[in-house]
Amino acid sequence: MADLEGTKEEHEFHTNVPFKNEAFALRGSNSLDWGIKNRLSNIFRPDTGRTVMLAIDHGYFMGPTTGLERVDLSIVPLLPYADTLMCTRGILRSTIPPTFTKGIVLRASGGPSILKELSNERIAADIEDAIRLNVAAVAVQVFVGGEFETQSIENMTRLVDMGNRYGIPVLGVTAVGKNMSRDAKYMRLASRICAELGASYVKTYFVDEDFDTVTSACPVPIVIAGGKKRPELDALRLAYQAVQQGAAGVDMGRNIFQAENPKAMIQAVAKVVHENMKPEKAFDYYQTLRTEK
Ligand code: 5RP
Repeated sequence: MADLEGTKEEHEFHTNVPFKNEAFALRGSNSLDWGIKNRLSNIFRPDTGRTVMLAIDHGYFMGPTTGLERVDLSIVPLLPYADTLMCTRGILRSTIPPTFTKGIVLRASGGPSILKELSNERIAADIEDAIRLNVAAVAVQVFVGGEFETQSIENMTRLVDMGNRYGIPVLGVTAVGKNMSRDAKYMRLASRICAELGASYVKTYFVDEDFDTVTSACPVPIVIAGGKKRPELDALRLAYQAVQQGAAGVDMGRNIFQAENPKAMIQAVAKVVHENMKPEKAFDYYQTLRTEK
């Protein structure tokens, strides 16, 4: 019990100071519940409003992808430089040290492998397990225009209902099928559908023309996937163009873990995302880091 003797009695109630009621700065997120905002703050750095998510969930349909054969050796050393890690619960439990305290975005959809129709996904993790793993968000693939479009959208809306019940944000991942055109019109459609149906934020692809219309028409933050491996300077240019045109960061996988020097690359990407560093300068930074012992 608290000691009642000798307690300090001079109160300062600051009666003439208005109560601080700060708005939550993240796009479209001000009306969300405290727990969701708190988890989003473990994904998007509050000082910049942006994130460098390291995506390593490829194995859930691609198996041991190049660069992810030994996550303990290739990815764990990168964790200090990532704001958030996107992975499956299998990799999380088996390989990621629980001392990693930044946001985990848990892959929560799956089913088909690369040998089958990819849009035929189901929810692949329940919300109790997400809570048990203390994740910052769950991620679900949405195949707008795909063969199993409705099923994949239902996966997302069910996760949104479950997530809202427990304060867990949902990342809607727009999956662009082989027959879809990767243009701003498609990305606007797919990302807006995710946001309208309750995703807290959306992952989509950068497009060369009119990407700013994609971010503008989406009422929640957008992060971009890196896509197939490209030369390091090109990947830095991609990240730069995306954030300059309104993206709130990247959810980048292969262009980091398949880079010639992944540790240098993730730090260069962070300079672009959080400090608006120009890609050429970030590439110089990459070269400096990669030649350091
Ligand atoms: C798979 C995903 C991946 O996380 C995504 O593709 C990001 O990785 P990359 O930058 O390698 O494209 O969501 O569906």
